[in-house]
Amino acid sequence: MKLSLKVWRQKDAKSKGAMVDYSLEGVEGDMSFLEMLDVLNEQLIDNGEEPVVFDHDCREGICGSCSLQINGEPHGPDRLVTTCQLHMRKFNDGDTIVIEPFRAKSFPVLKDLIVDRSAFDRIQQAGGYISVNTSGNTVDANATPIDKHAADEAMDAATCIGCGACVAACKNASAMLFTSAKVSQYALLPQGQVEATQRVQSMVRQMDLEGFGNCTNTGACEIECPKGISLENIARMNREYFSANLKG
Ligand code: SF4
Ligand code: FES
Repeated sequence: MKLSLKVWRQKDAKSKGAMVDYSLEGVEGDMSFLEMLDVLNEQLIDNGEEPVVFDHDCREGICGSCSLQINGEPHGPDRLVTTCQLHMRKFNDGDTIVIEPFRAKSFPVLKDLIVDRSAFDRIQQAGGYISVNTSGNTVDANATPIDKHAADEAMDAATCIGCGACVAACKNASAMLFTSAKVSQYALLPQGQVEATQRVQSMVRQMDLEGFGNCTNTGACEIECPKGISLENIARMNREYFSANLKG
């Protein structure tokens, strides 16, 4: 395939960025989107130009590092896949592909296609944990019976990889799908009840402090989420939040 790429280039967080055009040949359908960018970077290095900086780590849909806005969609045109799992066979010879970083005030661009998503870390640190004694007296997890349906829903919520596509997809740059997944994975389990009241209050407070917008039920986050995190988690977080505030 021969492709025309329009890539966001930005020197650093303070510089003004711009779209730059590149032409790329020899792209194969079996390449992942990141491998296609590797080929582009080899071409740039061969020409003595600076390679495009982008985030990645596992390249198998686990870590949530790869975060690209591809033709206006977080993680591109395929459903339920991350950018690293997106294959070039989803595109056609001669296509023009627009590649940008995730756009949100709370995810400032650091360089080219890399954004700072440490706001998510701070939300997680505000309450995304349970107090378990791990000093040699750890209780066997199976010693606490858990309803199968609740265990399944908690596991579904726990598959959130913190990629930030939900924020990038939302017209309000809301982080409610992410935060609600992190609240739900504990709210559904008996082990998560001890800190439940404080957890939802702290995580929602931190989410607001980070400048993310509110949810207006558009549902774009759920559609673009590579892990299929359900909007039901947002409803659950709202219920948890209101009930926590009633308790004081
Ligand atoms: S909810 Fe989905 S889109 Fe949002 S951070 Fe988690 S995995 Fe990514
Ligand atoms: S590089 Fe880890 S999820 Fe894509």
